[in-house]
Amino acid sequence: MNTNSAVPFEILLAERAAEIEFLLERLLDGRARAGEIMRPARLMQAIRHGALDGGKRLRPFLVMESAALFSAAGEAALRVGAALECIHCYSLIHDDLPAMDDDELRRGRPTVHKAFDEATAILAGDSLLTEAFGIIADAETELPPERKVQLISALSAAAGPGGMAGGQALDLEAEHRAPDEEGVVTLQAMKTGALIRFAAESGAIIASASDADRERLASFGSAIGLAFQLADDLLDLTADAETMGKATGKDAAHGKATLASLHGIEWTRMQLAGLVEQANELLEPYGEAADTLRAAARFVVERRS
Ligand code: IPE
Ligand code: IPE
Ligand code: MG
Ligand code: MG
Ligand code: MG
Repeated sequence: MNTNSAVPFEILLAERAAEIEFLLERLLDGRARAGEIMRPARLMQAIRHGALDGGKRLRPFLVMESAALFSAAGEAALRVGAALECIHCYSLIHDDLPAMDDDELRRGRPTVHKAFDEATAILAGDSLLTEAFGIIADAETELPPERKVQLISALSAAAGPGGMAGGQALDLEAEHRAPDEEGVVTLQAMKTGALIRFAAESGAIIASASDADRERLASFGSAIGLAFQLADDLLDLTADAETMGKATGKDAAHGKATLASLHGIEWTRMQLAGLVEQANELLEPYGEAADTLRAAARFVVERRS
C-alpha cells in the first residue's frame, strides 16, 4: 500500500522541494570546503541567485521517489538530487546567456547575467556543474564507492556532449537549419531528456536495484523527459510569462522548430497522452508502490508552469 496515495502530488513535490532547498542552502553557503582556499563572495551570490529559492525541483523529486520505489529513501538520494539540481540550474544559467537564448527572466527573477554580469554567470554555471560531482563524491554521501562511481559516470554522460550540453548544441544549430522530426526528438532527448532520464535511473543505482530495474526506470525517465520538453514547448506557445516566470513565445520568435510548432497543439497533446501511457506501462511491475511516479508523469504533462 502506498501511504502517499492520499496526499496531492503538488504537496509531495513541495515537501521534497523544501528538503532540497534546505540542503542546497547549506551546500552553497559560501564557506570554503576542505582542500579549497576561499569562495569569492560575488561568485557565491550569483550561484545562490541561480540555484536557490525557485524552481519546481522536479528532477531531485524523481531521484528521491525512484530510490524510494526500491526502499532506499533517505539522505543519499537527497544529496544526489541536490547534485542533479545544481547541474540543472547551471544549464538554465547558461541557456539564458545572450550567446544562447538571451533571456532576462527566470523563475520570476532577473537571469543571473542580468542580476550580475555575463562573465560571472558563466563562472556560476561552471561552479555548479563542478560542485555537482563533488557533492556525490563527498564522504557525506553515504553510498558504496562503486555506486558513487556509477552515479558520477551516468551523470557525466547525461550532462555532457552526448547528453544535455550536446543537445543544447543541436538546439542552437536548429535555429539555422530546421531539423526533421527525428532530429527534433533526438535534440530534445538530449537537451532535456538526458537529465530527467538520469533522475529516474539514479534512484535504482542508489538502491542497488537490478540491471533490469535500472533499465526500466531509465526508460521511464526517457518517456517523461521527452514529455517534459514537449510540454515546455507547448507552454512556450500557450502560456504567459507571469505564470511561467520566464519569457514565452520565444521559440517561434527565434524560428526554433519544436514538435509543437511542427504539428500543432492538438497533436502535441495526443503525443503527451501517449508518453504518459508508455511511462505507466513501464511502472506496471511495481504496482501501487509506483503511484507517486505515476502522479509525477501526469504532472509533467498537465503542469501549467
Ligand atoms: C526548464 O526546466 C528547462 C527545461 C528543460 C525545459 P524546469 O521547468 O524544470 O525549470 P524549473 O527548475 O522548474 O525552473
Ligand atoms: C532548455 O530548453 C533546456 C536546457 C538544457 C536548459 P529551453 O531553452 O526551452 O528552456 P527554457 O524554456 O528557457 O526554460
Ligand atoms: Mg534553450
Ligand atoms: Mg531557454
Ligand atoms: Mg522552452
